[in-house]
Amino acid sequence: MPGELIVLEGIDGAGTTTQVRALEGVIPNTISTRQPTGGPIGHLLRDFLKGNRGIPMAAMACLFTADRLDHCVDIKKKLADGYNVLCDRFTWSTIAYQSLGMHDRELPYDMDWLLAISEPVITPSLILYLDCEPAIALARVHTRGQTKESYENAEHLKHCTAVYRALCGSSEDREELAVSVDGAQAPDLVTTDCVRIINTHLPTLLA
Ligand SMILES: Nc1ncnc2c1ncn2[C@@H]1O[C@H](COP(=O)(O)OP(=O)(O)OP(=O)(O)O)[C@@H](O)[C@H]1O
Ligand SMILES: [Mg+2]
Repeated sequence: MPGELIVLEGIDGAGTTTQVRALEGVIPNTISTRQPTGGPIGHLLRDFLKGNRGIPMAAMACLFTADRLDHCVDIKKKLADGYNVLCDRFTWSTIAYQSLGMHDRELPYDMDWLLAISEPVITPSLILYLDCEPAIALARVHTRGQTKESYENAEHLKHCTAVYRALCGSSEDREELAVSVDGAQAPDLVTTDCVRIINTHLPTLLA
């Protein structure tokens, strides 16, 4: 039987990596992975993300999507082999973060365009969106020691939160199964909620 792809989404510091680690210990036969990947396009992306050289946000969106499509080849193989795959960030991250450039109006692209270029990407069985207020998420990132402190970052995360919430609210229209989880709770309570949602929507997974 093929496995299921479960995706964790949320702003920086929402706890996606923490929850992927917790869930891989709960869901049998699971492989965890992340985006951007460690592959050639992912490496290129990480270089750009370091900020040494800027490229237009639309170009970044294309690179993120190309990295994801490359990743999908591997994910599909794992699913066909019967593994469940947990992925730390997926399509929604690109739509939330790369739509920041929409304010520049440097190119005539928008959310619909970001969704359109993502069309060849496989649809996850379940998207768990960790909803967390930017102030809480930023405080966690600061505690972790990777300071991304600036008004601009708080503003960016507010934008991303609005996009994530809009995506979650419109997921049915795109035939995506997405559930919002209160990411402000203690980590074990977030995990409990995720497990409950998995049990509801993919009941055979934890059986
Ligand atoms: N529910 C939670 N409550 C309190 N602290 C948390 C919670 N979840 C994660 N943390 C802590 O917050 C920090 C960020 O968590 P984590 O790395 O999982 O976030 P992330 O969403 O993966 O962030 P990024 O997008 O930057 O990779 C870590 O120090 C982690 O231990
Ligand atoms: Mg992370």
